[in-house]
Amino acid sequence: MTPVDLRSDTLTRPTDAMRAAMAAAQVGDDVYGEDPSVNRLEEQTAEMFGHEAAVFVPSGTMGNQICLRLVVPPAEELLCDADAHVVTYEHGGAAQHGGIQSRTVPGGLMDAATVEQYLRPPGWGTVATSAVSVEQTHNRGGGRVHPLEVLQQLRDLTRKQGMALHCDGARIFNAAVASGTKLSEYGALFDTLSVCLSKGLGAPVGSLVVTDATRAKEARILRKRLGGGMRQAGVLAAAGSYALDHHVERLAEDHRRAQSIADALGVGPVETNIVPLEVADAPALAAAAREQGVLISVVGPKKVRLVTHLDVDDAGATRAAGVVGGVLGV
Ligand SMILES: Cc1ncc(COP(=O)(O)O)c(C=O)c1O
Repeated sequence: MTPVDLRSDTLTRPTDAMRAAMAAAQVGDDVYGEDPSVNRLEEQTAEMFGHEAAVFVPSGTMGNQICLRLVVPPAEELLCDADAHVVTYEHGGAAQHGGIQSRTVPGGLMDAATVEQYLRPPGWGTVATSAVSVEQTHNRGGGRVHPLEVLQQLRDLTRKQGMALHCDGARIFNAAVASGTKLSEYGALFDTLSVCLSKGLGAPVGSLVVTDATRAKEARILRKRLGGGMRQAGVLAAAGSYALDHHVERLAEDHRRAQSIADALGVGPVETNIVPLEVADAPALAAAAREQGVLISVVGPKKVRLVTHLDVDDAGATRAAGVVGGVLGV
């Protein structure tokens, strides 16, 4: 039987309709800015977020790396939470590629009152905080959504201090659908966003840096320097445009299935497509579930997560909940 894979928002195969869009894509050389499908995707994304420009990049990690370098000069400080992807899963990229010093507040969702205590404006004789980074939704925070008013307060605070605000929006589409917030409302709050097409939206590859025209020009140079300048990338961009056109609203189904798994396992409400579980022995649970064809991620010695996505239908969610519940004895 095919395993049910809930380790991440990973697809085993793009949908047939997405593959048809990829096959039909017009391509050119994107390093010259001449790939019509990439140009369309970049314009479409910039417009959705109400920004001047967007730059197609191979991954969310590269998107974050570029954004952070746009807003934090070398040897200055990025402030984020201790569980943020940018300081947890990017192998020190901000430090190595950007010379960026990171400082963290306790992990999880951030609020302005907490962040304010950590900011170090220029002129204090300390390392200056140049930018604050927020993750929407929060991956290690169990797919929770930063409420719009909290983000607005963070924007007000950072603006008052002359600091930039970055969004790691790998799952910002989930946040928008779950909270009923427009992408342009989120876009208006951030100087830079990195948004992923390859998570719940189901494209095989790709993220976008969303920002103003000046920073976007610099982003193209940074992307090339990192080896992320792609040539006939329109085949991938076409998958991205298809995903934006067809796979945003359906994220609500993933959220419903995540909630059904959480209900079956007797854990609290979930906000989007991630079900975090505190267990006695996370590796043992994951191994036992794998033997029964259900793949889940170990994210701590006593923590696993289950992620619903385009490849997990109602039967898959029921099977996953049954297997994990069976191992846990709930
Ligand atoms: C919150 C967050 N940011 C960034 C990324 C990086 O995306 P990618 O795997 O495309 O590099 C991920 C990937 O899981 C993520 O969860």
